[in-house]
Amino acid sequence: MEKRKIIVTSALPYANGALHLGHLVEYLQTDFWVRYQRMMGHDCVYVCADDTHGTPVMIRARKEGITPEALIARSYEARVREFGAFEMGFDRYGSTNCEENRILSEQIYLRLRERGLISSRQVDQLYCEHCGMFLPDRFVKGVCPKCGAPDRDGDNCSVCGATYNPSDLREPHCAICGATPVMRQSEQLFVELEPCRDFLKGWLPTHTDKGTADKLLEWFGEPLRGWNISRDAPYFGFKIPGYDDKYFYVWLDAPVGYMATLWAWAKARGQTLEDWWQDPKAEIYHFIGKDIVRFHCLFWPAELQAAGWRTPTQVFVHGFLMVNGAKMSKSEGTFISAATYLKHLPAQALRFYYACKLNGTVDDMNLDLRDFVGRVNSDLVGKITNLASRGAQMLNKNCGGRLGAMDPDSRALLAECRAQLPELQEAYERRDFCRAMVIVREWADKANQLFDAKMPWRLVKEDPEATRAVLTGTLNLFRLMAIALKPILPAYAAKVEALFGEAPYAFADAARDLEGRAIAPYERLADRIDPKAVEAMVAETKAQAAPALPKGITEKDVKAGLRQLAQAPAGNAFPPPRQETIAIDDFAKVDLRVAQVLAAEAVEGSDKLIRLTLDAGEPRPRTVFAGIRKAYAPESLPGRQVILVANLAPRKMRFGLSEGMVLAAEDADGTLRLAQPFAPMTPGARLR
Ligand code: 2FM
Ligand code: ZN
Repeated sequence: MEKRKIIVTSALPYANGALHLGHLVEYLQTDFWVRYQRMMGHDCVYVCADDTHGTPVMIRARKEGITPEALIARSYEARVREFGAFEMGFDRYGSTNCEENRILSEQIYLRLRERGLISSRQVDQLYCEHCGMFLPDRFVKGVCPKCGAPDRDGDNCSVCGATYNPSDLREPHCAICGATPVMRQSEQLFVELEPCRDFLKGWLPTHTDKGTADKLLEWFGEPLRGWNISRDAPYFGFKIPGYDDKYFYVWLDAPVGYMATLWAWAKARGQTLEDWWQDPKAEIYHFIGKDIVRFHCLFWPAELQAAGWRTPTQVFVHGFLMVNGAKMSKSEGTFISAATYLKHLPAQALRFYYACKLNGTVDDMNLDLRDFVGRVNSDLVGKITNLASRGAQMLNKNCGGRLGAMDPDSRALLAECRAQLPELQEAYERRDFCRAMVIVREWADKANQLFDAKMPWRLVKEDPEATRAVLTGTLNLFRLMAIALKPILPAYAAKVEALFGEAPYAFADAARDLEGRAIAPYERLADRIDPKAVEAMVAETKAQAAPALPKGITEKDVKAGLRQLAQAPAGNAFPPPRQETIAIDDFAKVDLRVAQVLAAEAVEGSDKLIRLTLDAGEPRPRTVFAGIRKAYAPESLPGRQVILVANLAPRKMRFGLSEGMVLAAEDADGTLRLAQPFAPMTPGARLR
């Protein structure tokens, strides 16, 4: 078999966000495939990196008062640790904020420009005067122009699925500060796709799955729209050559990050990027989720082709993760972060379960938490690992820890299982890990049947040598399973290698019998999962979503309170409805947010007003004048939280500009109290 040269990537995770079990659907399946290729003896290099650029990183860094570089360095560290814990086998894990990436991004852009594929147009864009910036993508919210759903993102509506430009939104508002943005013109740069039509039309059907290709080809009925690759300052990213205040849109340099990371890896071993990417023998595979096919199957191949770089061999698209049959949800406790998972459960359990479920299609994958416990406990521990723990411990205890020659029945079963290796390998090759796991389970079932039929625990009393033969058979069968599972469970396989005193397994080792040699003492390979650990993980995830309760109040108190309210006669518990009503849409227009008082001072020349400086989760603080002097001394306010009407039109007052209003309630006796959240919240949290 010829040695293949394979480059593999997974989508680069955003630096501005924690890894969760949904992300791991992709990273783990890529890792399975890469490890399988390496075990087949191929040269397979796997690169990935943090996707660092863009507005969210910039905004968050500003909020935390640190540089974007410091922010991405911090998240890089956390991610590398978590990936390590999940046994990810990257050859290099880099960052898009690196010199190699800047050089390549500029080079690709300049080559596209030389080819006449970059055009410049004046574009109307929403600009927030309060934040002093153009509002990209998700930083504008508003009413969907198609279905009318409120509070939609600026580029697509998750209710009706429409995609549009932020400027198409009705009643747009700035997602950072809530202010109504204005329309401003600015020059934007576009990669023209229409000239790439013929290339893409030919490329698509043979370089990704049929469903994905067909869906993308639907757009070819009309001229292909150019792709805006520029963003105005302020932005965290690479400056566009020839411009002082324009940056590459994060999605321009993100896929280039695949090449940049490969380049850095190649350099470290004395090679060039071209030695890999441009080698006609090399194969290039991208693993991605179905939400980012547009970038990987249209823009990316078009850019590469136009810039004179090789295009990917295949883009492997997968679906989303469901948990317990539903979308991951924070309040249900199923939006589980990698860090939370690792606190409660072993990484290899998730690797095993995902392998049992992944079948190489674009279908969504369901993590059923009860099934997860069952599969790990009954299959990985009960069926597979038990063969090793019983076999090895019995051999060590009763047969001097030495393998003999297999008994004929075991030898026959081993041959039968080995005959299925090509089928198992084909399943791995087409990313049908689920099928590969079925095959291993079938082997385990047969090996267990044989073990039970031979009854070595009884045989040992009469015939130790016959027992040695049976246990040698059992352990050879188990060893075959460990080799077959190694792409999924590398740490587990390493312990098996140590048990048998062997060098790291490749698939070729499956052909060899292990006879007439000593084994090491048995070391635990896998533990059963306690369902309580899963419950604790879900509870912790739920708690992360819910605001903390004030001291002394428990969840139980809250539930009891809610029950009481529900049982109270309507007239008593709730005041009768007022005559004058407003529609929900009217209410939805009011943008209420939690804000934290940073400073408060009495306003000279007014006996009512206090000037509040508020952190409403925006890049810069707001000033609000509030008529609350009769109830509060200014010095008592800093540190408190208030409710801010964030989208109230700014009002010029004698003392300055008031940028919003804070809510307060007044009793019949004139007592005035500021409204505040029940428990501390993140400044900027929206009331709904
Ligand atoms: O969707 C995402 O999470 C992006 N960060 C993926 C980037 S993939 C590649 F193009 F870099
Ligand atoms: Zn704003």
